Amino acid sequence: MKNIKFYIETIGCQMNVNDSDKMAEILSEKGCLRTEDMSQADIVIVNTCSVRFSAEHKAYSLLGRLKEQKDVNPDLIIGVTGCMAQYAAKEIKSRCKFVDFVLGARDIDLFSETVSKYIPIDSGKEYKQENSEVFKYITIMRGCSNFCSYCIVPYVRGPEVSIDYNEILKEVNKACDDGIKEIILLGQNVNSYNYNGVNFTQLLQKISEIDKVKRIRFMTNHPKDLSDELIDEIAINKKICKHIHLPLQSGSNDILKAMNRKYTYEQYKTLYEKIKNKIPDINITSDIIIGFPGETDKDFQDTFNASRQLQFGGLFIFKYSPRPKTLAAKLKNTVSLETIKERHSLLLEDSNIISKKINEKYIDKVIEVLVEKVNNNIAEARNSQNIKVFFDTKENLKGRTVNVKITKVLPNSMSGILQ
Ligand code: SAH
Ligand code: SF4
Ligand code: F3S
Repeated sequence: MKNIKFYIETIGCQMNVNDSDKMAEILSEKGCLRTEDMSQADIVIVNTCSVRFSAEHKAYSLLGRLKEQKDVNPDLIIGVTGCMAQYAAKEIKSRCKFVDFVLGARDIDLFSETVSKYIPIDSGKEYKQENSEVFKYITIMRGCSNFCSYCIVPYVRGPEVSIDYNEILKEVNKACDDGIKEIILLGQNVNSYNYNGVNFTQLLQKISEIDKVKRIRFMTNHPKDLSDELIDEIAINKKICKHIHLPLQSGSNDILKAMNRKYTYEQYKTLYEKIKNKIPDINITSDIIIGFPGETDKDFQDTFNASRQLQFGGLFIFKYSPRPKTLAAKLKNTVSLETIKERHSLLLEDSNIISKKINEKYIDKVIEVLVEKVNNNIAEARNSQNIKVFFDTKENLKGRTVNVKITKVLPNSMSGILQ
């Protein structure tokens, strides 16, 4: 019998990428083969996100296309997983009757059992997928208990729970045995990791003591509780990449308060400067939300000024999207879509100029990068600061650490010549 083919569409953050990896592993163990061509698949999993309306819209439009595919091939199995599946299962089932199963993000452990019901037992020979990835996401914390007023994550992913470090270390060891070079630790706020008295700094130390681990990254760090101890560890530990994603969300104290972020702009700036002083080669990136209810011209100006003052290496700018269940959804939306669009493009344009200028310091410098893939003789790599670096090569350098002389920079990437 031929192998059953599966396709997974991942929407949302790295948590979802990690869950998709787990589902792919389970399906492979059951003898199914992964395909990157949705139209060829016998099983399609849509791993959803609900952080913004646009993410949910994306899932529904994909499901619309899948309905057409199922009309042609009634044997097609369609599963919806992830964050939207967690809180809107009923709506998905009633809007998309052709979906076979809906499994929320918090029930990911039931995936194997659930999907088994749809796979014939004699589904081809066991197929062990060879792992050829360079980095691996490892979830160290589930959920979130911070309840930023705009955010749906605590409602869909549940309260913050730290995972047993023994389990994490086991997973790290296994990943390295499979050839993984870089470990990326995931949590909505890694600063508050604590399992039986082991905090995040101690977890980083334990992981970096594993010989086979070459590089460690992590995200995200909430500015309210990034400790001096952690900053010092990042500064001295050679395996820890010099990049911190530190979401500011807004430069206005009134808006920060309404967002329930628990810090002022001044406190953020003090922290930012402390990190830069202690780790001179650090790259700090951030998130901003535009158009939170009540955001005035002055509030936006504060955010714009903050971006200029702090000079982030990269800035992700999101348009505010009211989310069900959240406190902010009860507030009146005072900012028109047109104003949000205008503010968004003003900040985006300015922050791109800043990020590009920051990257210019690399011009003519030789830097070390880890190669993630090589396609059509172009290598895609990343430096410690998490900046993408492209260069030409005829060799398959995937997984290798090489030196590249930077010749050109853009706001979010650079290119150069292999040394
Ligand atoms: N736990 C992380 C963020 C996870 S969500 C942290 O606190 O840093 C990723 C980003 O999506 C957030 O930083 C925020 O900028 C954005 N975001 C979350 N909810 C949003 C909403 N309702 N509308 C627009 N952007 C949102
Ligand atoms: Fe959402 Fe705030 Fe938790 Fe991040 S810290 S996931 S923004 S509630
Ligand atoms: Fe991530 Fe989206 Fe869920 S951002 S935690 S996949 S709501």
